[in-house]
Amino acid sequence: MPRSSRGVLLPPVTGSRPRRTDVYLALRDAVLQGTLAPGENVPSSRKAAIDYGVSRGLMEEVYSQLVEEGLLERIVGRGTFIAKRATKPTDPDRHEETIQGVSSVSTRGHKLAGNVACRIMRQFKPFNAGVADTTAFPWQIWQRIQARAVRDLRRADMNFTDPRGVPALRRSLAHHLAQLRGVRCAPDQVVVFNSIQQASYLLALLLTNPGDAAWVEDPCYPGARAALELAGTTIVPVPVDQQGLQVEEGLRRAPHARLACVTPSHQFPSGFVMSAERRTALLEWAHRQDTWILEDDYDGEFGHARQPATPLHSLDRHARVLYLGTLSKSMFVSLRLAFAVVPEAMVEQLANIRTQLDAFGAPLIQLAMSRFMDEGHFSTHVRHMRNVYAEKAAVLAEGLMPLANHGWSWEKGTAGLQILLRHPDAQEVQRTAEASGLALHLLSSYRHESAGGDGLLLRFGGLSISAIRAGVEQLVFAAQTMRHSSRNKSSQ
Ligand SMILES: Cc1ncc(COP(=O)(O)O)c(C=O)c1O
Repeated sequence: MPRSSRGVLLPPVTGSRPRRTDVYLALRDAVLQGTLAPGENVPSSRKAAIDYGVSRGLMEEVYSQLVEEGLLERIVGRGTFIAKRATKPTDPDRHEETIQGVSSVSTRGHKLAGNVACRIMRQFKPFNAGVADTTAFPWQIWQRIQARAVRDLRRADMNFTDPRGVPALRRSLAHHLAQLRGVRCAPDQVVVFNSIQQASYLLALLLTNPGDAAWVEDPCYPGARAALELAGTTIVPVPVDQQGLQVEEGLRRAPHARLACVTPSHQFPSGFVMSAERRTALLEWAHRQDTWILEDDYDGEFGHARQPATPLHSLDRHARVLYLGTLSKSMFVSLRLAFAVVPEAMVEQLANIRTQLDAFGAPLIQLAMSRFMDEGHFSTHVRHMRNVYAEKAAVLAEGLMPLANHGWSWEKGTAGLQILLRHPDAQEVQRTAEASGLALHLLSSYRHESAGGDGLLLRFGGLSISAIRAGVEQLVFAAQTMRHSSRNKSSQ
């Protein structure tokens, strides 16, 4: 790519002696595709001519043509700029279209690219977002701590850092896990990741061979399934009921599975807590088979209103449970910090695999997080948020009351950041509610196999109390409208 002494870098052209058309097309495409953004300053024609190795006259001609076409603007005394209206408007689907439009992607690439587990929400509407309430986040404290972390970042931390995570954060996490979740581990067992998804993917690479079976809850968190699929495992859906994963069914479908991925403290999306019986059965199977359980404790701090459920990890006597936690819910999702607790003997291998994917996580944010925990701000925040989410859950449950006794049901007493509202005709209500601005996810969309009964996942964590009230009113109205119209139809 030609370097420029002033202004943006110009796009490369092929060949050592480019022609006028080559230079023109390279610049035009870069502007239209947004590689050169509106308002950016391009080098003078004299400097651009030197960069491209063409004559000044040729470069002038190209610039003049692009000015005529409205792609460049010349401002006397200031220079030449990419025109403000030059780029095509950005289409959020463009990336996806491009991938689908490329005929040379592999069959595997095509399949995986079609499997979108996580995507930026086009619009934040009730009740579509599984995010934390950031209005209650102590921003000023966090900003101060971040600033201090920047100041204290030692030279050593600006180089390659430990792929297992910054030691200070591994210590803070071990301490926090014992305090808030009753998970006892040494800092040397903690490995820091960007997300639970990343941790699951790398653990699956470490623990399975291509094609090995992995039990996945049905219904389940799509991110977990996607991570295991990416790692090449064969997904074995195992149904979930009120007691959690049906271990017996798992044994029937794939007794020799190498992994089981579960959310025992707060099943996603059904909200059930795994019963003691099922926990024992799952742990016994893992011990007998010498296989592994990935325990995804994604919202363990908030899972249940009164007393968060005990992690499976604390009941495990044979070191078969690999515990996964995230700060996406307890802090905020763009933080990109999560962690795994694994047997010490596995840490080195896991870290080695991690280095082959993205070397290591950014140390700065890890240092800041460690301070936030060590100074007590994290536990204060979590305690405060437990109350905030419990209040929101209560407002939501109260708003849903008109639906009780009309075929709708939901788990009472749960908090977390979401509630599953069950009803066989949920799909129709979803459609009606969509028209009034709600974005509701169907329980069936998280399922592998179509089983009886459907529902609506109401994610309320990031909504204000007033937005919850307004949203639930619209939802109740949609459900009642549907009831009246189906009654009318049956009486005709
Ligand atoms: C069950 C479950 N696990 C994990 C996550 C996300 O964790 P992370 O952002 O660390 O991948 C979510 C997010 O909604 C989730 O529902």
